[in-house]
Amino acid sequence: MFRATVLACALLVQLRVCHTFSFDIVVAGNKQLDFLHHGTLTHTELIPSATMITSVTYDAVHYRLLFTDWNYSTMSIYSYDLSTRNIQVLVTRQSNYYPRVVYDPVTQAVYWKDDYSIYSSSLNPASSNKADGNLLAELGHYCNDLAVDSCGGYIYWVADEEIGRARLDGSEREVLITGTVYWRLSLAIDQQTQAIYWTQKTHGGDDHCSIERANFNGKNRTTLYIVRNTRFVFSLAVSKDFVYWQNYEEEGIWQLPKDKTSTATKLHSISSSDWLCNRVATNYTIEEQIEGVKSCHALQALIPRESNNGSTVSICQNYCFQGECSVSAEGPTCSCKAGYSGERCDLVNACHDYCLHGGVCSLNEENKRVCQCTAGYDGERCDVSICNEYCMQGNCSVGADGLPKCSCKAGFSGERCDVNACHKHCLNGGVCSLNKGVEPVCQCTAGYGGGRCENSICNEYCLQGDCSVGADGLPKCSCTTGYSGVRCEENACHKYCLNDGVCSLNEEDEPACQCTAGYDGGRCEISSDQDNSCEAGNSGQGTISACHQFCLNNGVCSLNEASEPVCQCTADYEGDRCEVSVNQDFCFQAACGVSADGQPTVTVTLGKGVQSTCASTVPEDCQDTKKLTEFKQEQH
Ligand SMILES: *[C@@H]1O[C@H](CO)[C@@H](O)[C@H](O)[C@H]1NC(C)=O
Ligand SMILES: *[C@@H]1O[C@H](CO)[C@@H](O)[C@H](O)[C@H]1NC(C)=O
Ligand SMILES: *[C@@H]1O[C@H](CO)[C@@H](O)[C@H](O)[C@H]1NC(C)=O
Ligand SMILES: *[C@@H]1O[C@H](CO)[C@@H](O)[C@H](O)[C@H]1NC(C)=O
Ligand SMILES: *[C@@H]1O[C@H](CO)[C@@H](O)[C@H](O)[C@H]1NC(C)=O
Repeated sequence: MFRATVLACALLVQLRVCHTFSFDIVVAGNKQLDFLHHGTLTHTELIPSATMITSVTYDAVHYRLLFTDWNYSTMSIYSYDLSTRNIQVLVTRQSNYYPRVVYDPVTQAVYWKDDYSIYSSSLNPASSNKADGNLLAELGHYCNDLAVDSCGGYIYWVADEEIGRARLDGSEREVLITGTVYWRLSLAIDQQTQAIYWTQKTHGGDDHCSIERANFNGKNRTTLYIVRNTRFVFSLAVSKDFVYWQNYEEEGIWQLPKDKTSTATKLHSISSSDWLCNRVATNYTIEEQIEGVKSCHALQALIPRESNNGSTVSICQNYCFQGECSVSAEGPTCSCKAGYSGERCDLVNACHDYCLHGGVCSLNEENKRVCQCTAGYDGERCDVSICNEYCMQGNCSVGADGLPKCSCKAGFSGERCDVNACHKHCLNGGVCSLNKGVEPVCQCTAGYGGGRCENSICNEYCLQGDCSVGADGLPKCSCTTGYSGVRCEENACHKYCLNDGVCSLNEEDEPACQCTAGYDGGRCEISSDQDNSCEAGNSGQGTISACHQFCLNNGVCSLNEASEPVCQCTADYEGDRCEVSVNQDFCFQAACGVSADGQPTVTVTLGKGVQSTCASTVPEDCQDTKKLTEFKQEQH
């Protein structure tokens, strides 16, 4: 329905200046816009989301109003599209002081001020702005209002201390009107009269305010009108025929013909609680603004032109912000460039290019962008690869399960390649190094061996005893009693009992023999069947070997290469025949002999270190007459 009305109007006037209601001025309340035509209210638009509308201005090219809303800490610049009645927030910024917005259709930028500073922000969605707006000027005193000269390319400001201007990029800053007054609250620019207008109160004490006017350069200054019995005059605006302002005391909007052909009249009632606001905007078309003004090509170029082939061109002109316009029976339709949306392509598509790496963007219930990332990506915008810094020493890839997988460099392992192959590889203090950077190799500490130094050289080394590692790094056994040998491998019984005697260890863990029949002696070395011989080493007597009874004290006898008996003594004895007790004090052996007069003699061998005599009992052998005879014969 609404579109049909727009189209019908457009066809009628051949311009897309077509609205369901017409207005000469718009007056903003805190949360509403009142549209007045010929002095009567034609429409009120409620802005429920607003807290306090502090300024309003008209964009005559795009048929929209721009206004600031302020909640004492944040300001928002809204647009209100007169064709569609769409309301949207264009800019949101921190703001400490009554914000005021003006618009320049030539640069397509809004200019706003808060307390001391002036900023700009382009509304051309294709351009980029600094996050907090582009700072144009810092004034050093409160800025009360702004106005833009679209033809000359200046931004003007008014403060109690001065009126100044600068280029729209902030350069060429100059002060036009000096001299501090009680206040200068409001400023307007009129191309048609080539003048700046402002409201002023010169002294605090008296009861009148004034509307002042001067050339763009601040020269030829005049007082246009004196407003009596009020403390504040603000919301100054100019149209083709009138100057408008808000009177604080009278609580209303007043109008005065620009040419002052009659006195000011009250047009509309409005509460005046906030005297730092600028709440009037006028429908001052661009044609009207530059009518008779020769030198304003910038605005001239923005006037919609009728085309000689019908209305279809003009209805589209300036309709689509970032897209192509076409006309159907429904009216103009925009086909938006990528990244833009909205009926007029003036909405930056929030989702456009938002989710990276193929992530799918959607808006959640709070109208916030949410990305659904493709496998392998994470982060608010899918901007973080899950592989990012995942594999410490290796390459990362995304597995079929969507999780990162590492392919580790040589020498590393673990799920994230964070384990060095040497890590905990060598045991028992072994030092690890990588062979060709790949294979971990261990250098073991003394006493350990094996690929990972996992084996102690003591391990199973001593068969019956305790092992320790010597200074030479070799294992040393300390054998339990009854065992001997380098590895304690020898049982004291080992080969101890001769002639099939059975060996066992006694309570002192010493070997003891149980001899088979026919044998006797500590090691069953004595054959009871054989003749004993005093001279044990003297062989050649049948079965008696040279070893027979040669080694004493359990010494083990063997024949050397010369067939001479050689003894291997037990630990407690030494001497050729093991006849010397290493550590015991006793008389352990006597040898038979024959004295020169043919008497048997006994030679006693004493234990090591023992000086005393033993009881010199003549062994039985020595009393054997036959043997004595033999001895005698041998002696001589
Ligand atoms: C603004 O004024 C012009 C004529 O001065 C009029 O043609 C146009 O419809 C008005 N615009 C609005 C939105 O009322
Ligand atoms: C003003 O609005 C902003 C943004 O909506 C909000 O964060 C802040 O709390 C509001 N402050 C006040 C004082 O209402
Ligand atoms: C100065 O202003 C007066 C009226 O206010 C006007 O008649 C005159 O032409 C102006 N002079 C210049 C140079 O603008
Ligand atoms: C109508 O005018 C527009 C611009 O003036 C032009 O681009 C278009 O080709 C014209 N169409 C016809 C059918 O002449
Ligand atoms: C890691 O990737 C590089 C480049 O593709 C390749 O040269 C290298 O061999 C890979 N390393 C591993 C451990 O897969």
